[in-house]
Amino acid sequence: MTVAEMEMPKTLGEPGKEEVEALSITDRRTGRVYEVPISNGTIRAMDLRQIKVKPEDFGLMSYDPAFMNTANCKSRITFIDGEKGILRYRGYPIEQLAENCTYLEVAYLLLYGELPNRKQYQEWERNITFHTMIHESLKKFMDGFNYDAHPMGMLIATVAAMSTFYPDAHNIFDPASRTKQTHRLIAKMPTLAAFAYRHSLGMPYVYPDNSLSYAENFLHMLFKMPSETYKPNPAISRALDVLFILHADHEQNCGTHAMRGIGSSHPDPYSAVAGAAAALYGPLHGGANEEVLKMLAEIGSKDRVPGFIKEVKEGKGEKRLMGFGHRVYKNYDPRARIIKKIADDVFEVTGRNPLLDIALELERIALQDDYFVKRKLYPNVDFYSGLIYQAIGMPTAAFTVLFAIPRTSGWISQWQEMLADPEQKIARPRQVYIGPEERQFVPIEKR
Ligand code: CMC
Repeated sequence: MTVAEMEMPKTLGEPGKEEVEALSITDRRTGRVYEVPISNGTIRAMDLRQIKVKPEDFGLMSYDPAFMNTANCKSRITFIDGEKGILRYRGYPIEQLAENCTYLEVAYLLLYGELPNRKQYQEWERNITFHTMIHESLKKFMDGFNYDAHPMGMLIATVAAMSTFYPDAHNIFDPASRTKQTHRLIAKMPTLAAFAYRHSLGMPYVYPDNSLSYAENFLHMLFKMPSETYKPNPAISRALDVLFILHADHEQNCGTHAMRGIGSSHPDPYSAVAGAAAALYGPLHGGANEEVLKMLAEIGSKDRVPGFIKEVKEGKGEKRLMGFGHRVYKNYDPRARIIKKIADDVFEVTGRNPLLDIALELERIALQDDYFVKRKLYPNVDFYSGLIYQAIGMPTAAFTVLFAIPRTSGWISQWQEMLADPEQKIARPRQVYIGPEERQFVPIEKR
């Protein structure tokens, strides 16, 4: 008798609903066969729970460290096909958005699902511009940091502090409050970032100028000298705006996962954004652009590239080629392609960054090296972005801040989607306990 004949298949889907696509699972411990419904190319992990040996068992769980193959949500925001190198926001290819939109248009698209018409855009831009100032007391927080504090540390701390200035932000199920906090967060992140930069240089803070565009205003707050007039270069501000578009969202990455995870216990969005920014800070995530520049400086010249590649290969994962590889992309990151083009526009204004030649040589050699080809390691968004940031005058330590500013619109879009999703609950993964069995307490003198 085959296992299938031993017992009729048990259907684990919704009762009364006939499932067309299903997965048959044979539990060899009991010989039972289960039919697990498949929808959107997934099975529900909770369907596994009914697979038991004895009725009192907890039931089967899936084990997936680092969520390598687990979908945590349904989302309508960003689509990535990592094999083909495709990235779309709300259905629009990233290339078209980068070519034709401003960052604020894209932020609106991510949040509301459609590109704004002219009237909607004007109102949206006015709302963002209106909220660019920060509370004067926030400056005192900034002043409290050491001169050499990392700009990301200052940004994370001050955005968290904003939660104490806007108690209305706790009303997360009030749509009007959510809209207000959305405007505030998108508007104030550049101000906090610029103030952090000015603090680290010991320079006076520059207040926002509402006559400027989003990117121009940020450059103005970064680089304006009180004693001089400052006019942002249009090629630089456009390049920055496009970089903001490219970084705005990237579906369920580490920072966004933190945003959703923290948001799932329903704190205010400032606290959740602070947590998401902390996740972004790490060198394997948004901190990689800073690491790329350190790596290029360490290599120092084109002729030392082959030696460096050899060290990476022999390091067996200890030493990595920063700005290469991606959990999702197993092809050229489409954002890296666009960034490479922007770099040319920026270098025309600023002069060529000498590290570019080392980067190009690294890419050339890595893309034909078996180690990288076999593992499908291609340049990611961070490989070239740092070179541009450096060319426009940003210190290396401030690079991740330039990632956090635009990612704020993605984080808020994902947070709002999560709050509106009736299937979502407080995030709370399970574990496989492998520690000691129960044992008896031993007094300290007998240990
Ligand atoms: N240099 C050398 N080897 C690498 C690299 C790299 N940059 N990335 C992955 N590998 C190797 C890794 O050692 C492993 O080899 P093996 O199979 O022999 O053990 C294999 O490739 C698979 O790597 P993994 O660590 O299992 O892949 P992952 O999906 O867990 O990690 C990653 C993805 C982005 C963390 C990783 O590729 C990495 O550390 N890259 C460098 C840091 C970086 O550029 N991060 C920015 C990512 S893009 C911006 C963002 O979204 O934040």
